[in-house]
Amino acid sequence: MTSHQFSIETIGIAGTGAMGRGIAQIAALAGLTVRLHDASPAAITAARNYLADTFSKLSTKGKLDATLAHAALARVSGTQSVSDLAGCDLVIEAIVEKLEVKQALLRELETIVSGRCILASNTSSLSITALAAACQNPSRVVGYHFFNPVPLMKVVEVIDGLRGDPAAADALMDLARRMGHTPVRAKDMPGFIVNHAGRGMSTEGLRIVDEGVASFADVDRIMREQAGFRLGPFELLDLTALDVSHPVMESIYHQFYEEPRFTPSPITGTRLAGGLLGRKSGEGFYRYAEGQRAAHPEAPAPTTMPPSVWVSKRHPRAYAAVCELVSKAGVPLDEGSTPASGSLLVVTPFGFDATTAAVEEELDASRVVALDALFPLTSAQRRTLMTTPATTRLARDTAHALFAADGVPVSVIRDSTGFVAQRVVATIVNISCDIAQRRIASPRDIDLAVTLGLGYPQGPLALGDALGAQTILSILRNMSQVLGDPRYRPSPWLARRAQLGLSLTQEELADTQPGSTQ
Ligand code: NAI
Repeated sequence: MTSHQFSIETIGIAGTGAMGRGIAQIAALAGLTVRLHDASPAAITAARNYLADTFSKLSTKGKLDATLAHAALARVSGTQSVSDLAGCDLVIEAIVEKLEVKQALLRELETIVSGRCILASNTSSLSITALAAACQNPSRVVGYHFFNPVPLMKVVEVIDGLRGDPAAADALMDLARRMGHTPVRAKDMPGFIVNHAGRGMSTEGLRIVDEGVASFADVDRIMREQAGFRLGPFELLDLTALDVSHPVMESIYHQFYEEPRFTPSPITGTRLAGGLLGRKSGEGFYRYAEGQRAAHPEAPAPTTMPPSVWVSKRHPRAYAAVCELVSKAGVPLDEGSTPASGSLLVVTPFGFDATTAAVEEELDASRVVALDALFPLTSAQRRTLMTTPATTRLARDTAHALFAADGVPVSVIRDSTGFVAQRVVATIVNISCDIAQRRIASPRDIDLAVTLGLGYPQGPLALGDALGAQTILSILRNMSQVLGDPRYRPSPWLARRAQLGLSLTQEELADTQPGSTQ
């Protein structure tokens, strides 16, 4: 069938909880007739009341014409009987996340609706192919994964089951656009796009804290102010709550057969058992009182400057930026090919720890500090400084004073392969490269899904390009070399494109040329 053979005007929504009512809102506003169904009559009434309230608020605020609001509400009806969904062109189920319960509903729907009706599932973690396998006609079953809250989260993943009819999925892509949403197309793989791509930030953030490198609050500050993300991993985990995120972390890890990149952390299980769920329980990684997060003040920066500073020339751009900061702070630069005895020694490794950099450059580790130069140093909102286990307190504190001299806050962390920002960002880029490599979605859809679904400042592939695919590759290679952990092995998508000087958003050229078999 082709997508225009599926004409969608009347939709049924089964399950009118948080997700069902949000989908009903955008559908009714787009002019569709909506039939709400729920096993609980109270849930149907609550959903209708929610829609009435929302439409009325929108029109009071002048965001929705009162006549249109009235008409939208008039298009929504409710029923406790599944058989009343008979005339629907599409039924979207948003009921409880249990395979057997969803399969039973789909089977029942099949006996009620017409042969042209599409059956969609809003599941976030179940296989669409497995859901469809319960049906006589699996070709009409499509994944339609919205995000919470639906009206604000403007992206929806459209997932083709293995036996799905692509035309049915095409019709849902068109419908998403009609409802003002951006559809992205994904293969039926665990986590689809967004929940798969989102692994990088939280698992690597947890790994850093687990290694004793930095506190939760420091990791968040670095990811927000140095790397430019809206939220750091622990702020995000507090928002989603550990009773939701911890099982998702475990499930994705196991569904990919213990893929080391997704290894969860023992930190979350313990905190979950202790009831430190996040914002909603009043305490997670942070404490909350009346919805406000308790402050985590930072100690003021020291003020005693080092007598002189020697800077590693390994990375010419980083060398120039550090020299500029040293000169602005009015501290003498030690320009010797080997450092003078009293100088502070500054290295700028990529994917190495301060210790490896000190040893490789044959420097006195007690005077070595490392500065993260992945993001621009001179225009930074925050800088990250790390020490070797042998670095003296004096060296650390004078370095802190030096790099905070222009008022930019500095996070001082313990030794870490790839600081904080380098390793988290490289992991995020690498996982998304692997999503592209597995052909789960196109590079364009990966970047769109992550930008809209996770609120990242830019798509992970575009971010990799902006920072330099070769730089990301060398961070991962160096981390792999030091740690020997397969978690950091570069995706072939990244390695090949970086070596060829191609963009990470670049599909195989032959696939996009006329005559290609794809
Ligand atoms: P919810 O618990 O708020 O609502 C579920 C509704 O389904 C309830 O009103 C319940 O009475 C009804 N229900 C349960 N079994 C039923 C059945 N057999 N027949 C008819 N109605 C039934 O759940 P929520 O959060 O709206 O989630 C619904 C679905 O959407 C789940 O599959 C979930 O995984 C998925 N999802 C949830 C997201 C979220 O952030 N809440 C995000 C994306 C997907």
